[in-house]
Amino acid sequence: MKKEQVVNCQFSVWYPLFKKHTIKSLILPIPQNVIEYLLDDGTLVVSCSENNTQHTEANHSDSDEDDIQWTDDETTTTVTAPEFPEFSIKVQEAINVLGGRVFPKLNWSAPRDANWIALNSSLQCQSLSDIFLLFKSSDFITHDLTQPFLHCSDDSPDPTINYELVLRKWSELIPGGEFRCFVKENKLTAICQRDYTQHYHHIAKQEASISSSILEFFKDHIQYKFPDEDFVLDVYRDSMGRVWLIDFNPFGEITDSLLFTWEELTSGNNLAANQTQGESALQDRPAFRCTTSEVTVQPSPCLSYRIPRDFLDLSTGEDAYKLIDFLKLKRGQQEEEESEEEGARPQL
Ligand SMILES: Nc1ncnc2c1ncn2[C@@H]1O[C@H](COP(=O)(O)OP(=O)(O)OP(=O)(O)O)[C@@H](O)[C@H]1O
Ligand SMILES: [Mg+2]
Repeated sequence: MKKEQVVNCQFSVWYPLFKKHTIKSLILPIPQNVIEYLLDDGTLVVSCSENNTQHTEANHSDSDEDDIQWTDDETTTTVTAPEFPEFSIKVQEAINVLGGRVFPKLNWSAPRDANWIALNSSLQCQSLSDIFLLFKSSDFITHDLTQPFLHCSDDSPDPTINYELVLRKWSELIPGGEFRCFVKENKLTAICQRDYTQHYHHIAKQEASISSSILEFFKDHIQYKFPDEDFVLDVYRDSMGRVWLIDFNPFGEITDSLLFTWEELTSGNNLAANQTQGESALQDRPAFRCTTSEVTVQPSPCLSYRIPRDFLDLSTGEDAYKLIDFLKLKRGQQEEEESEEEGARPQL
């Protein structure tokens, strides 16, 4: 994957070209101080104009005395939410233009790994503070900000990126209507159900019509119009059978290959085997994969972002060194407890 391919998948590069075929959206440049705030790990205080100062527990002077023995004037901590009045106004205006409810993204990614933290457990936002909460909690957003060119094979200096807040009109997309399409050398070679963790009865049943409507959409509106010849395209097929563009992604490891492997997608091996045998007229048809009822339904891939990475590694035994450290810690604690117990025993 080349850096240029990543650059071409930025929302502001493709949106003007395909506006007619996707969800209405607005793009706002993000000021440098907002980027710094998003990258700052120190505090998760979320800026909002009505209530821009929050106090830590230490500030609650009416709390029970027992709880706050350590609270006096010297130790009182006040965390002030930064304010971005101009940016805040622009964002609110854009949200209003888009109907009051938006789906937020940065240049490439949405904070899909952080929806559990939002009050509504969704990526639907109505204000800048909703957006900040999601963005500050998301590793995907941090990735966009800190290492967008990870996995790129060229040694050239990183292109300059102008960070942008993308606000998309909120749309109730049914997961069973979403598909990821892999395009190599301007040819649509593979289509996959986007949410592969679930079995959707209608997908396997309607495979032929889904596949041909996506192929038609691709030929009519996308092929040769995107600045690269290799890319990954996400689409939505609505209940009327109409296909919409959702997103473009780089053709490479950084993009989830879902039920295919990157080896299959780059080499083309195995793709033909999925197609109806012996029908030469169908040779042009992309390979199609969906989760069938025989495949066990799998947990959501984003679940692992809800707990600290260390817990996950320990529970799966993924990182042996972490496990050794953890066992040493446990042993240390045990020894400490034992010696405390001995000290507490009456001396006869
Ligand atoms: N405008 C919208 N309103 C509501 N939900 C949306 C909207 N746009 C996208 N979604 C949902 O959010 C999901 C992720 O969106 P999108 O593909 O833009 O994010 P992404 O970060 O690029 O994901 P990926 O890393 O998989 O490429 C979509 O599959 C869809 O279910
Ligand atoms: Mg994407």
